[in-house]
Amino acid sequence: MSAKTYPVLKSAKSRALIDNDTYQKWYRESIENPERFWDKHGMRIDWFKPYTKVKNTSFNGKVPIKWFEDGITNVSYNCIDRHLKAHGDDVAIIWEGDNPYIDKKITYNELYEHVCRMANVMKKHGVKKGDRVTIYMPMIPEAAYAMLACARIGAIHSVVFGGFSPDALAGRIVDCESTFVVTCDEGVRGGKPIPLKENTDTAIDIAAKQHVIVNKVLVVRRTGGKIGWAPGRDIWHHKEVLTVPRDCPPARMKAEDPLFILYTSGSTGKPKGVLHTTAGYLVYASMTHKYVFDYQDGDIYWCTADVGWVTGHSYIVYGPLANRATTLMFEGVPNFPDAGRFWEVVDKHKVNIFYTAPTAIRALMGAGDDFVKRSGRSSLRLLGSVGEPINPEAWEWYYNVVGEGRSPIVDTWWQTETGGILITPLPGATDLKPGSATRPFFGIKPELVDNEGNVLQGVADGNLCITDSWPGQMRTVYGDHKRFVETYFSTYKGKYFTGDGCRRDEDGYYWITGRVDDVLNISGHRLGTAEIESALVSHHLVSEAAVVGYPHSLKGQGIYCYVSLMAGEEGNDALRQDLVKHVRKEIGPIATPDKIQFAPGLPKTRSGKIMRRILRKIAEDDFGALGDTSTLADPAVVDDLIANRQNKA
Ligand code: WT7
Repeated sequence: MSAKTYPVLKSAKSRALIDNDTYQKWYRESIENPERFWDKHGMRIDWFKPYTKVKNTSFNGKVPIKWFEDGITNVSYNCIDRHLKAHGDDVAIIWEGDNPYIDKKITYNELYEHVCRMANVMKKHGVKKGDRVTIYMPMIPEAAYAMLACARIGAIHSVVFGGFSPDALAGRIVDCESTFVVTCDEGVRGGKPIPLKENTDTAIDIAAKQHVIVNKVLVVRRTGGKIGWAPGRDIWHHKEVLTVPRDCPPARMKAEDPLFILYTSGSTGKPKGVLHTTAGYLVYASMTHKYVFDYQDGDIYWCTADVGWVTGHSYIVYGPLANRATTLMFEGVPNFPDAGRFWEVVDKHKVNIFYTAPTAIRALMGAGDDFVKRSGRSSLRLLGSVGEPINPEAWEWYYNVVGEGRSPIVDTWWQTETGGILITPLPGATDLKPGSATRPFFGIKPELVDNEGNVLQGVADGNLCITDSWPGQMRTVYGDHKRFVETYFSTYKGKYFTGDGCRRDEDGYYWITGRVDDVLNISGHRLGTAEIESALVSHHLVSEAAVVGYPHSLKGQGIYCYVSLMAGEEGNDALRQDLVKHVRKEIGPIATPDKIQFAPGLPKTRSGKIMRRILRKIAEDDFGALGDTSTLADPAVVDDLIANRQNKA
């Protein structure tokens, strides 16, 4: 592992909000006296009624987590209204279309009107405080308006990534009993239309069979393409907004009122509805946005994520807008019209801060340096990475070729569950090591434990836990608090278990080594092996399936499926293709299997448990060291699996 160190850049240090001494001082205070620390920083947002209680949390028992609990505020007010008096004409959102000739700028004044009108449309059609609104949208400003409109009236949004299938969308609508959906006629990505309204129609029919009836679908017009229409249920956004007032008072929300649900995959069962609440989330998202990206007035900030993921929630919409930033929203993909697109957009909009994912960096690195060198990139000051461990080669390329050695890289580790960044460099404070997320943010207490739960000190490799609460933390699994406690707080008593493996080096730097549970990270997207397995076994010819990850040079991890067929069925390429199609239909294109191996038998213990360790090794083409196979019910299946492996070197 690379131990190379890049000292804090002089240019970064001279302008930074936080230098190393300040980091040390604040960090110490945040750990020694969290009450006092967060009492101070809770005031970074505006309150209709300020809090008197700061922290009321426990990682034991029922794991009650409350921050600023008696305060009253509104997230939409904090992201919009409070900026209007002095900065209403500043640009809030720069929208860059999929088509490089289309873009637009939305000021804070305009944002106010768009959000208020959409909020009033929701109200007019019966949406009330606490109702769940599903947002299934492409990367257009109306996606952000919809989120902020929900926040304005106290509705809970559930954004579903536009790449998910109708089945996946239906599952999410049903789980939170959402009766109002915001979507769009079609999305556009890489020049191709995406049938979002058609998918929504299909999803609504599936949901209806499970007795969840969607009453209203608010449809934004993006392409004008032909779509189906259910009169009485479907309403056009552009028509409706003209029928309602341009002002909508922000609802008075308690600090712990829910803000949003976001579904994410775990190691077992269906995706969980991660619930985030109002004030603590906004304090944490905005504070990390400000200090991690060293955001200062006038900076142009671009996070390339999709609003369908938590990165889009915290670092395209809520964090930046609460900080009165100019946030760039990109509709397209990194390689359309060609692999120079990101850097063209950087030049066009004079982007200062650029935040993307290792999978994109690796893909662009593979396309060659010419695409980068065609651009100037002189506006860039800071680079960020998120979603999976960044391999040192990709880090070096990002730093030297894209950044020309002038911009620090913040490798930010966090999760849907954490609401915001937990482990990260600060650009003016932290010496960088390629591949390390470095040090904890203020208020974060990481701990490494071994599999028995013993706490490891000093240089160590173990399971990453966090031992005390921070304001941005998820509060529950929607509708299933027991699952919340079991998933995150029962593996190691009294600690939040992240599911990640991690190494701490001699400088106290943290190196995330990847998931230690049955969660895959495919191109920075999270998928549970159990989810893909259940999609496979729902195919009529499949009797059993086991899914594991294997190292993939572009995606980080690839999806390797072992499939046993019904008696008498024969595996062939046509069936492989059919299974791929089936999984894409059940979950979406992000779950496309990379390898399918037909296996007459799976390696099981005598008690019937599949030994995944063996399957992982064979998928990695590393079967020399299978370890102990003596507990297998039928050791002979292993020979067959090896002989028919799909990743032969
Ligand atoms: C998992 C969380 C948080 C936004 C995107 C993903 C992995 C995330 C890093 C990083 C190494 C990382 C972890 C984590 N991960 N960022 N900088 N270095 N690993 O959110 O879908 O909830 O996935 O992504 O394994 O547990 P998510």
